[in-house]
Amino acid sequence: MRILVTGGAGFIGSHTCLVLLEKGYEIVVIDSYVNSNNKSLERVIDILKSADQTVKFNIKVINLDIRDQKKLDQLFCDSHNLRTPFNAVIHFAGLKSVKDSLIDPLLYWDVNVNGSINLLRVMNKYNCRTIVFSSSATVYGIFNNEPLKENTSINPINTYGQTKAAVEQFLTDIYSSNPEEWKIVNLRYFNPIGAHESGMIGESPLGIPNNIFPFITQVAVGKRDKLTIFGDNWPTLDGTCIRDYIHVMDLAEGHISALEFLLENKNQIINLNLGTGHGKSVLELVKTFEQVNNIKIPIEFSGRRRGDYASVVADNSLAISCLNWYPKRCLEDMCKDGWKWQSLNPQGYN
Ligand SMILES: NC(=O)c1ccc[n+]([C@@H]2O[C@H](COP(=O)([O-])OP(=O)(O)OC[C@H]3O[C@@H](n4cnc5c(N)ncnc54)[C@H](O)[C@@H]3O)[C@@H](O)[C@H]2O)c1
Repeated sequence: MRILVTGGAGFIGSHTCLVLLEKGYEIVVIDSYVNSNNKSLERVIDILKSADQTVKFNIKVINLDIRDQKKLDQLFCDSHNLRTPFNAVIHFAGLKSVKDSLIDPLLYWDVNVNGSINLLRVMNKYNCRTIVFSSSATVYGIFNNEPLKENTSINPINTYGQTKAAVEQFLTDIYSSNPEEWKIVNLRYFNPIGAHESGMIGESPLGIPNNIFPFITQVAVGKRDKLTIFGDNWPTLDGTCIRDYIHVMDLAEGHISALEFLLENKNQIINLNLGTGHGKSVLELVKTFEQVNNIKIPIEFSGRRRGDYASVVADNSLAISCLNWYPKRCLEDMCKDGWKWQSLNPQGYN
């Protein structure tokens, strides 16, 4: 099986590439490195070699922007001519900062939506019609403190979420245009954190982290003074927001399960939540990190951020039943592995 992985050098992509290679898939990774480093995939190979020196892994890495229609076409054309067509695509490539998406919506629509259209166009042209797409819980519109099911209404409130919802919509349209051929899964991630247990690969954000976990680890490593928590008066047990944190390795394994689910089953389009189904408050996350790693994280509270919700937790029952997958790692594992990565690599991959 030959799989194209877009954005495979990034946080979730690199962990997924590791599992794909462990499982014996041949992979081609394309990435523009706009938010990643080519060292991540070198480290993936190092991890695999440290387990078994003798095994050969089949990975090719290409610096390619998904908006470059010509190069994308050439890649698919070459694969087709060499009689090594792609069996499926796992599509991570995209920009992911809610804040930046509000500042530069043109860029976000261009990369996330136009980039995806380019990709789907060449996939269709070269008869590769199986795709696992990185969607997000930000597509949902109703947050009433109940776990979110996949049929919760879609109504994103920021540009980033709009771009994910737009891609989901056009994937639905593409599927409807040719339901005999397409196999599509939209994976709606909740809050991926942690790192591979080796501490060799992890999240290496460029600039100020947008998400809470890399912020915590950067405070822990001394790169930042303190963690700012947005709001202490939410209607939750301790007043801080509740989120569904999922270990990035559980998420990575979910991708392989989703890929195999598509390859083994009939044509379809399906949306699946990838979360643990358990909500943890920001203070619980910080306290767990402190306890597991024996490190104090200085915190300060500021006002609520516009557009935040008290609680965002997945109902993951559909993913569990369809994918023969479940998240195995607990919050302690996420905190331990995430800190191992950051402490061994204070500057990330740089
Ligand atoms: N991390 C999260 O919290 C989260 C949550 C929900 C959804 N997602 C989505 O999952 C995907 C992967 O997220 P991640 O956390 O690994 O982010 P990431 O930024 O680490 O990975 C994205 C990768 O895509 C690459 N990329 C960006 N634009 C590109 C382009 N035009 N052409 C080629 N490559 C490009 C980046 O260089 C990076 O390697 C993204 O689509 C993101 O929106 C992430």
